[in-house]
Amino acid sequence: MRHSKLVGKSIHEATKHSYLSVQLNPNYVDGSTQPCAFKVYPRFYRRVKLDENNSIHNFIKLTSCITFDKIYKDGPYQLRVNPSAGALYPTEVYVQIRGVDGFIDGVYHVEVANNCLTLIYELSDDGLEGYFIQNNRIVGFIFLVSCVYYRSSWKYQDRSIRYCFLDSGHHLGAIAASAYLHEKNIELIFDFDKLSLNADLGFENKEFISSCVIAGEVQETFSRRLRLSVPFVCGTDYFEVNQFVEDAYKATSMQPSHQHKLDHPKFNFHRDRFLENVWNRRSIRRFQGKSITQDIYWRIWEDVNQPIPTKNLEEIEIYSVVHHVEGMIPGIYNGRNLIQAGDFREKTGYLCVNQALAKDCAVTLFFVSDYENYQTALELAGFIGQRVYLFSNYWGIDCSGIGAFYDDETQDFLQTAKDVLYVMAIGK
Ligand SMILES: Cc1cc2nc3c(=O)[nH]c(=O)nc-3n(C[C@H](O)[C@H](O)[C@H](O)COP(=O)(O)O)c2cc1C
Repeated sequence: MRHSKLVGKSIHEATKHSYLSVQLNPNYVDGSTQPCAFKVYPRFYRRVKLDENNSIHNFIKLTSCITFDKIYKDGPYQLRVNPSAGALYPTEVYVQIRGVDGFIDGVYHVEVANNCLTLIYELSDDGLEGYFIQNNRIVGFIFLVSCVYYRSSWKYQDRSIRYCFLDSGHHLGAIAASAYLHEKNIELIFDFDKLSLNADLGFENKEFISSCVIAGEVQETFSRRLRLSVPFVCGTDYFEVNQFVEDAYKATSMQPSHQHKLDHPKFNFHRDRFLENVWNRRSIRRFQGKSITQDIYWRIWEDVNQPIPTKNLEEIEIYSVVHHVEGMIPGIYNGRNLIQAGDFREKTGYLCVNQALAKDCAVTLFFVSDYENYQTALELAGFIGQRVYLFSNYWGIDCSGIGAFYDDETQDFLQTAKDVLYVMAIGK
C-alpha cells in the first residue's frame, strides 16, 4: 500500500467511533467554555462593507454569511450558509482579488461577524498563485478555506480532524453554489504548498489552510509568493493545543491526491429559486418518516453525482439505504443497483450512534472511499454533502449531515473494504 494511503488510514483508524468508545467518551463539554467562532482582525485594517446591491459583494458574501439569527436567553444563535458539525464553525474564508474594478488588489479575510471584507495584504508583484501554479496569475478571485481547529477539537478532540475537513468541503460547496449563482466557473485545488502558505499568512499552529478555489482568468505572468508575512491573529479567544490534529493535518498536507482530468458540472436550476434555497438551507432536526417520490430522488442523485471541477479528485462512492422511496424496494443500494433488500431503519439509526435522524429519514446515504489523500477525500465528501443539502432542499426534501457513526460496524454492514467518511440523511 502507498505511504500516503497508510498515513490516511492510520488517522482514520485512530479516530474511529465504536459503541464502546462513545460510551466511554461521550464528548460532553461545558457550553460556556466554547471558544469564539468568529475571527476578527484588528481595527486598524482597512475594511469593505459588503453591499447587497453590488454583485461582486454578493458573490463573496454568499460564500460565508449568517443566514439565521436569533437571540435566546443563553445568548445569540447564529447559523450560516454552510453547515458545520456541532455548529462550531471551524472554517474561515480568505479571498485574493486581483484586477477587479472597485477593489484594491489584495488578500482579504471574509469577516462573517460584521459582514465585511478585511484587507490583510496588498499585492505587488506577488500573490497566492505562487503556492500552486507557477508562472501564472489569476485575474479575478482565489478563495482559501482554512480551519481554526480548536473551535472543533474543543468538543470533538481527535475526531475533530475529520469534521474540520468535512466542514471545509461544505464551505467549498457553499463557494461553488455562489459561483454558480454568479455565473463563474471554478476549479478546486487541494494539492499545493499549504504549509508554506500557513506560515506566510501568520497562522502559526492555530489555523491551517485546507483548500483553494480559483474563479478567474489565467494570465501568463510570473507571480512570486507573498513578499511579506502577515502578522498572527488568533481565530479564537483562547486556545489549547491538540497535537494529534496538528500532526494529522501536516501528514495529509504533504501527500499528493489522486489526479484526474478537469471536468465541470452543468446544472439547470431555476436561479432565483436556487438563490432562495441557498439562503434557506437548514439541517432537519427530526424526520416524520414520510416517503419521497422516486422521480425527485433520482433527480437529486443525478445532480449530486455530476463532475466535481478539480484535478485532485478522490473518488467518493455512495451507498444508499432506502427506507421510504415510492416504488423502490427498501434495502441497500450501490448507485442504482439493489445489493440487499430489507428494512434497515433500526440498523442505520443504531449505526449513527442511535440518532433518530438516520432511522426516520427516507434514505440514509453512506459516503465511502479508497483514497490516496485522506484530507482531500474528506473535503470532497463534504463538498458532495453540500450538494446533497442544496439539491434536496431545492426539491422540498429535508436533509442533515451525520458525522457520528460507529465506523467498523458501518463498514461491515455495507460489506465494503473502503473507509466510511460521512453519512447523510434525506427525507420528509
Ligand atoms: C460534518 C457535519 C457533521 C454533522 N453531524 C451531525 C450529526 O451527527 N447529527 C446531527 O443531528 N447533525 C449533524 N450535523 C448538522 C449540524 O448540527 C448543523 O449543520 C448545524 O447545527 C448548523 O445548522 P444548519 O445546518 O441548519 O445551518 C452535521 C453537520 C456537518 C456539516
